[in-house]
Amino acid sequence: MTCKTCLIYASIVTGVLMLVAGFGILLAVDLKTRMEQKLKAEITLTEGSKVFQSWKNPPPPVFMEFFFFNVTNPDGFMDGEKPHLTQMGPYTYREYRPKDNVTFVGNGTVSALTTKTFVFVPEMSAGDPSSDLVTTVNIPAVAVMNKLKDVGFLIRSSIAMFMSSMKTTMFMTHTVDELLWGFKDPLLSRLRSVKPEVDENFGLMLYKNGSNDGEFVYYTGENNYLDYGRIHTWKGEKLMSYWATRQSNMINGSDGSAFHPFLTKEERLNVFTADLCRSIYMLFEKEVTVKGIPAYRYTPPRAVLASGKNNPENEGFCLETNKEKCLDDGVLNVAVCRKGAPVIVSFPHFYLADEKYVEDIEGVSPVHEHHQTFLDLNPTTGLPVRAAKRAQINIKLDRITGFPMTRKLIGTIFPVMFLNESVVIDDASAQRLQNLLFIVKLVPNFPFVLLALGAIMLIIGLVFFFLARQKKDSSKTETSYSPVTTKDEDSVGKNGAFIGMTPVEKS
Ligand SMILES: *[C@@H]1O[C@H](CO)[C@@H](O)[C@H](O)[C@H]1NC(C)=O
Ligand SMILES: *[C@@H]1O[C@H](CO)[C@@H](O)[C@H](O)[C@H]1NC(C)=O
Ligand SMILES: *[C@@H]1O[C@H](CO)[C@@H](O)[C@H](O)[C@H]1NC(C)=O
Ligand SMILES: *[C@@H]1O[C@H](CO)[C@@H](O)[C@H](O)[C@H]1NC(C)=O
Ligand SMILES: *[C@@H]1O[C@H](CO)[C@@H](O)[C@H](O)[C@H]1NC(C)=O
Ligand SMILES: *[C@@H]1O[C@H](CO)[C@@H](O)[C@H](O)[C@H]1NC(C)=O
Repeated sequence: MTCKTCLIYASIVTGVLMLVAGFGILLAVDLKTRMEQKLKAEITLTEGSKVFQSWKNPPPPVFMEFFFFNVTNPDGFMDGEKPHLTQMGPYTYREYRPKDNVTFVGNGTVSALTTKTFVFVPEMSAGDPSSDLVTTVNIPAVAVMNKLKDVGFLIRSSIAMFMSSMKTTMFMTHTVDELLWGFKDPLLSRLRSVKPEVDENFGLMLYKNGSNDGEFVYYTGENNYLDYGRIHTWKGEKLMSYWATRQSNMINGSDGSAFHPFLTKEERLNVFTADLCRSIYMLFEKEVTVKGIPAYRYTPPRAVLASGKNNPENEGFCLETNKEKCLDDGVLNVAVCRKGAPVIVSFPHFYLADEKYVEDIEGVSPVHEHHQTFLDLNPTTGLPVRAAKRAQINIKLDRITGFPMTRKLIGTIFPVMFLNESVVIDDASAQRLQNLLFIVKLVPNFPFVLLALGAIMLIIGLVFFFLARQKKDSSKTETSYSPVTTKDEDSVGKNGAFIGMTPVEKS
């Protein structure tokens, strides 16, 4: 047998084998399910899993941007004007958040601390935090007055006199650094001399640099992939005790850094946020692409921060005995977990909040793209590819009897600062994820690739087989001429027409 025919036969045989193998694999194993199982097993918080190292020490850079609201008419506001605010910032910090003290505690759970460190990035900031001055609500004074709301009249009026002797006013001016990372407040220092447990320092991020939010225990996802990254306990508890109902106190979902693979558009993604002292949820908004990676965008709907009136799920977040006093949509009073300071959190510029909060302030206007919180997750792996967590801190300015300087206050929710904590997947991780997604896509199609290649080889083989057969037949009948195309064939030796032209080679 010559090489051309053996090639033809090889092609036919391989084609048939590939077809058989393709059909065999297709019938015998469900590669898609196998692949999904493999991925589910890989995406767990276990030593040596694909995601463990980047969970422990996330490579993509996280940036925390702070924006402040400067009050330009503090005296006018005290006389009953609307506050006029101008936004300052961003003041950007690179945030490092490695997991510390990672310990496997058994039963498919792992405990860890997340220590956050903030390093200022001047080139991504709009000003110098050590010199930029911001005029804002005198939060320590408001907190002190608020604490004294329910004490006896005598104590209250003596503190009020003490405050006016110190010339304490409703507004204060400090540098961005001081407001964020802390300063010695004169009022608090004076109080400390009588009540030593009072901390004389105040700052919105006081003691937050290099500290953690407490111990979290997470499910590893070994037993059920849907539990991957879900919080088991926080500070040793399964439920918080700040709020009025069990539903409000529930610690639902993950901490926002890990989500189970095979996400669907229908699911409600729960995220627990220690800063908000509550769990929130997000719903699918749209499909996006980040650095070539397909992702689903999830974002908290209006109902998440709706008042109990509009969303009964949220009734437990209002701790007022008089339900008339509960706040409206889009704002959450977190005084319970801020040592009684009347801190109200919302989305920036009162995005998704009741319109009256926006109307009460000159200088805020919510914009969906700028002020929404979102998570872009790759649906196959559940890995976050881009995220932005945006929140605003406000102070509620109420009239408090016994304190003359509050007499004109009408319960304004006064914006102080908002933040945007954002992350985009780094290029190296994006490349690795793309490779993984390519394999995940390719493997289930492997039998089809086999079938297609097999069919092609079989067809080519058969075509050449029949061509060769035809030629043989025709050459037997027509010996008068020989086609030029056959000259490189070894089988020409059998072709009588050629013998005369290649006598030397033949002998
Ligand atoms: C902030 O407001 C004060 C007036 O309250 C003003 O003097 C100051 O220039 C403002 N700062 C900025 C950066 O706009
Ligand atoms: C981590 O664990 C060690 C030893 O168990 C302990 O000394 C240390 O304080 C822990 N770290 C934190 C941040 O709690
Ligand atoms: C582990 O599971 C067993 C049985 O389900 C239970 O008795 C034990 O308390 C669990 N341990 C932990 C640390 O959750
Ligand atoms: C936070 O701490 C780190 C190291 O401990 C330091 O480099 C950084 O400057 C601190 N950030 C702020 C805002 O103080
Ligand atoms: C936690 O989840 C439960 C059910 O899964 C839900 O009823 C509850 O409202 C959630 N709580 C919060 C605060 O999201
Ligand atoms: C964060 O959000 C703010 C407010 O919308 C925006 O100005 C800023 O560009 C955002 N930063 C990033 C890194 O997306």
